[in-house]
Formats: sequence, structure tokens, C-alpha cells
Amino acid sequence: MQQTVELQQRIAEALSSIHIPEKPENLYDPIRYMLQIGGKRIRPLLTLMAADLFSISDSNRAVPAALAIELFHNFSLVHDDIMDAAPLRRGKPTIHQKWDSSVAILSGDRLLIMAYDQLARCGGDRLAALVSTFNAMATAVCEGQQLDMDFERREQVGLAEYIHMITLKTSVLLGAALKMGAIVSHATETDARLIYEFGIHLGIAFQLQDDLLDVYGNPRQFGKKPGGDILANKKTYLLVTAFETADAETRAELTNLFTAKDSVPENKIDAVKAIYDRLQIQQLAEDSKQNYISKAFNALDSITVDEARKTPLRTLAQNLLHREA
Ligand code: IPE
Ligand code: IPE
Ligand code: MG
Ligand code: MG
Ligand code: MG
Repeated sequence: MQQTVELQQRIAEALSSIHIPEKPENLYDPIRYMLQIGGKRIRPLLTLMAADLFSISDSNRAVPAALAIELFHNFSLVHDDIMDAAPLRRGKPTIHQKWDSSVAILSGDRLLIMAYDQLARCGGDRLAALVSTFNAMATAVCEGQQLDMDFERREQVGLAEYIHMITLKTSVLLGAALKMGAIVSHATETDARLIYEFGIHLGIAFQLQDDLLDVYGNPRQFGKKPGGDILANKKTYLLVTAFETADAETRAELTNLFTAKDSVPENKIDAVKAIYDRLQIQQLAEDSKQNYISKAFNALDSITVDEARKTPLRTLAQNLLHREA
């Protein structure tokens, strides 16, 4: 725990010491804003934890890789909020809302360049492996984000397709964050693959929790607009599972709710929630989350380092499963 707190402090310090120019204000103020409004900083923490797991020397060498991951994540959120027409992020107005979409596109682009600046600072013989892991991750995120948007227009999406989509848009980033830490620490290829697999399964559980919080979270803690996924016709775990478990009548009801034009937002959210409750979707999502965490822990079990060194990652994974923010 103490170790985790220290790593978090190291990330916070490293992030705040990144130089961000003053001008043009409309390019750099949104970037400053995005980085200052917080976020859990889970992904860079995963990078440093993986570096610690595989190395007895200090994990400072993994800091640029950790920053590259967090900057990429922030870039993806700025653009995601445009795509999802989201008004709130981390309890604050989104950049496209506070400024405009053009500003959000460009400051997002600049954040991505900042990510590559950090990546370029990852020294030594590991740079090529880090760049290829990073680029494979970035490609997957784009593909996942496109599928996420394509699914908005589809009437039904199967569970396997949904899991594939969230693996691309969310899990691969957690997996790559961990794998990059492992690469910096010269882990074996097998161990690097296993920690990546841990991240993939953890990432799926993480996105299921995100889907749950979108409907059932406390907006003050979660910091996003409640019911945003329902209003954007997102195919979440909840909706996909509702379609899979509902009888024909309820399925028709759901289809009507999601195809109706000009419905009152609050009414749509309440009606969809009522169906989720009837079908006990929340419980199914909880069970599925648990299932993916078990898979994640199986991968972690197979990694060839002392069990005691894995404790911080296990604790973090458990906490993420029940997070409220
Ligand atoms: C949000 O990620 C995007 C998802 C993949 C669900 P986080 O919940 O980690 O966002 P911050 O960085 O803590 O705000
Ligand atoms: C997150 O998906 C995936 C990326 C940002 C790449 P969401 O759209 O569910 O994330 P939130 O809920 O807006 O944070
Ligand atoms: Mg999205
Ligand atoms: Mg979104
Ligand atoms: Mg979400």
C-alpha cells in the first residue's frame, strides 16, 4: 500500500513537471485543464507496478513510459467526449463544451504528440519494443472506438462482439501499460505476455464497472453525466445482456425505447433502468466482472516472480472492481 502511494506521488510529480507552453492559449489551456482536473492515474500506476514486479532496481526508468500512457489516455478521452457528446468529465465540463469541438480536436492531437515525446525519452535497447507495443495499442484503441460508434446505429449487438469492442477500446491500453513496465524491466517474453493478459482481463472488468457506474453510479463521485450511455444509444454490457436475456415482448420494448425519436431524456433513462432492474442485469454484470477478475488472477498466478511481489497488483485489481469513481 505504502509502495502504491509512493508510485502515485511519483506520477503526480512527473506529470506536473511536464512543460506546457503558454501560447496559443486556446491550444494549451485545455491541455493544462485536462491534466489538472484529476483522474485516477491508474494506467501509469500499472506501468510502474509492472516495472517494480520484474525488477529489483528502481522503477524510475519506467516513468517516461508511464507518462506516455497517461498522456495517450487523456488524448483519447478528449476525443471520446466529442464522439460521445459528453458534457462532463471528472466532474467538470468537457473541453468541447467549455471551448469548442475544434479546440478539443487540436488540443487532443497535441496531447498525443506529448505522449510520443515521452515515449521517445524511453532509453536504451528497449525503445523499439516499447514503440511497437505502444503503436499496436493505439491502433487497437482507434479500432475499438470506431466499433463503439458503429454499434450505436445497430439494433442488436452480441455479447462476444461487445467484449471484442471493449477489449480494443479499453483493455488493450491497460495491457500495454503493464507490458511496457515489464519491457523496461527486461521481463521474459512469457512474463510480458502474461502481465499483458492480466491487463486485458482486468480491463474488461474495468469497462464493465464503467458501464455499471454510468447507470447506477453516484454522479458526484463518478463525474460523468448519469445515463449518458443510454442517451447515446451505446451498446453497453447492460444493454447487450438485457437483449440476450429478455423475452420477445421486453426486447420489443427495448427496441422501441432506443429507436423512438424525441423521447424525453429522463423518461428514456428511467424506462431502460426499469427493464434492467426487472431482468436483474446489475447482478449479471457483477458476476461477469468477478469472472474476468478470476481470469486476470490466473494469468498473474503463472508469472514467475515471488507471490509477495504480486500483492500490490492484486489489491489494485480488487479495488478497481468496486470503484465508485
Ligand atoms: C475512463 O477511464 C475511460 C474508460 C476506459 C472507462 P478512467 O475511469 O480511468 O478515467 P480517469 O482517468 O480516472 O478520469
Ligand atoms: C472509453 O469508453 C474508451 C476510450 C476513451 C478510449 P467510454 O466512452 O465508455 O469512456 P467514458 O465513460 O466516456 O469515460
Ligand atoms: Mg466512448
Ligand atoms: Mg465516453
Ligand atoms: Mg463509459
